[in-house]
Amino acid sequence: MEIIICKTKEEASRKAADLVAALLKAKPKAVLGLATGSTPVPLYQALIKDCAAGKISFKQAKSWNLDEYWGLAPTHDQSYRYFMDTNLFDHVDIVKKNTHVLNGLAKDWRKEVKAYEAAIAKAGGIDLQVLGIGSDGHIAFNEPGSSLASRTRLVSLTPQTVKDNSRFFKKAADVPKQALSMGVSSIMEAKRIVLLAFGANKADAVKGAVEGGVSQFCTASALQMHPDCWFFCDAAAAAKLKLKKYYAWRAEEALKAELA
Ligand code: GLP
Repeated sequence: MEIIICKTKEEASRKAADLVAALLKAKPKAVLGLATGSTPVPLYQALIKDCAAGKISFKQAKSWNLDEYWGLAPTHDQSYRYFMDTNLFDHVDIVKKNTHVLNGLAKDWRKEVKAYEAAIAKAGGIDLQVLGIGSDGHIAFNEPGSSLASRTRLVSLTPQTVKDNSRFFKKAADVPKQALSMGVSSIMEAKRIVLLAFGANKADAVKGAVEGGVSQFCTASALQMHPDCWFFCDAAAAAKLKLKKYYAWRAEEALKAELA
């Protein structure tokens, strides 16, 4: 695990974008795993800028998203499909049919998740997975208590996540209580993981994920077992880390070597 701690989320997002850009340059047909939430927005803005400047292209890339609210149509302004279109896909040269988000209205969720996982495998697996983190340490919608062996499935959200995400909806009662979500072990199959965490309300989650024991009560902690995982944090999200100085000491070199 490499922990990159920056002063601001913009700085951290720029560095994370450099890793995504390096992948797209080295492998134009890259398979991207993408995330929603407020956290990856500055990363997507940096990528949109790079694409407009002709530095990178998504023309041959494919993408799969982590999760989708169960019961929301793709046209719903809080669906994750809508989020991806408006925050990234509509502003870069990716081919829309190469972008995949779980269908929150699928007739048979078991069929939907099976086909989703099969399509990712057929594409060769995810080269780089972008992740945010929930305030309780969840990744995608793998809430505390989710098996670390979990695969893509229908899950129930916790009251905390419903509360956290209610800020995007007109009223808390509108937040779906279930979602389709890639599982922890599905996520762990990505060749590289780039997790972003910003703000003081993520400090406990980051602490648990990086320095806590590996446990299903903080599903992000499973990432400690991943061979190529990068955390990009702002100062507030990293504030509770015990070995902060050590991470900073080695991180610059690690990132430099990666982008050389
Ligand atoms: C939701 C998403 C997660 C995301 C989390 C944090 O639960 N399923 O993928 O990481 O929200 O959202 P935010 O980045 O807005 O704090």
